Amino acid sequence: MIKPDGSQTSLAQSPRCLNLFQLVWVGKVMEKLILSDQIAYNSPTGNREVAVLAPEDWEQRWREGTTSWDLGGVTPSLVEYCREKNPRGLDVLVPGCGRGYDAHFLARQGARVVALDYAPAALEAARTTHPESRVDWQIADVTVLDFKHRFDLVWEYTCFCALDPPRRQAYLAGVARALRPGGHYQGLVFHSFPKSGGPPWPVDVENFRDLLATNLAIVAFEENTQRSLKARLNTEIWFSARKLPVVPPS
Ligand SMILES: C[S@@+](CC[C@H](N)C(=O)[O-])C[C@H]1O[C@@H](n2cnc3c(N)ncnc32)[C@H](O)[C@@H]1O
Repeated sequence: MIKPDGSQTSLAQSPRCLNLFQLVWVGKVMEKLILSDQIAYNSPTGNREVAVLAPEDWEQRWREGTTSWDLGGVTPSLVEYCREKNPRGLDVLVPGCGRGYDAHFLARQGARVVALDYAPAALEAARTTHPESRVDWQIADVTVLDFKHRFDLVWEYTCFCALDPPRRQAYLAGVARALRPGGHYQGLVFHSFPKSGGPPWPVDVENFRDLLATNLAIVAFEENTQRSLKARLNTEIWFSARKLPVVPPS
């Protein structure tokens, strides 16, 4: 910039240019904030105010049958996982179980399964769909998990992404409490939409990785995993995280 006396200032010294830089910087920060906000709070209607479904909203969805996330069967990656690691004899927790295909499948493989949902109509649907099931269906809010019993495996599918983002840490802390040392929290989470609308809502990848690492030890983390079913390819993270054994002080 040319000063009145003919001398020049560098861009960094110029108050006007500094303001311009600041504006660009503020613009970039705002853009980031808006983008991350959209990721966290996108809603079924595209309006930001309907970010989260309250228990009664989930209940209503189940009663109306607006359950577009429901695959109508077991999650294929769970079948694959059970071929790799036989769950027979394991204590398994399935949070946000919906109609319960995964929970019932795990029970049929010989696992002792507790499945949770806070919509009574979801559990009604699960019981009706699997009348002979040995699954222990329980109404519970997964963001306040407090079991005396400990589990070897917590199976995740479309529960984390159904939660209000500020409550996701409480959920993962509860998952960590519910696991036995050496137990695994395992499954898939969405990081982007399989189609427009929700639920489920996508998950910010780095935020999910941080939350996992805060509560457990990450064993696997595959973004855009090939384990997704075809219609959901490039939208999911396959992960595994382990509760570390407590090492007694020497
Ligand atoms: C997107 S659905 C997924 C259901 C099932 N996992 C599936 O893939 O078909 C999410 C489920 O979690 C339940 N849910 C949402 N928030 C919950 C909470 N805080 N505690 C317990 N269940 C919850 C809903 O009622 C719904 O059945």
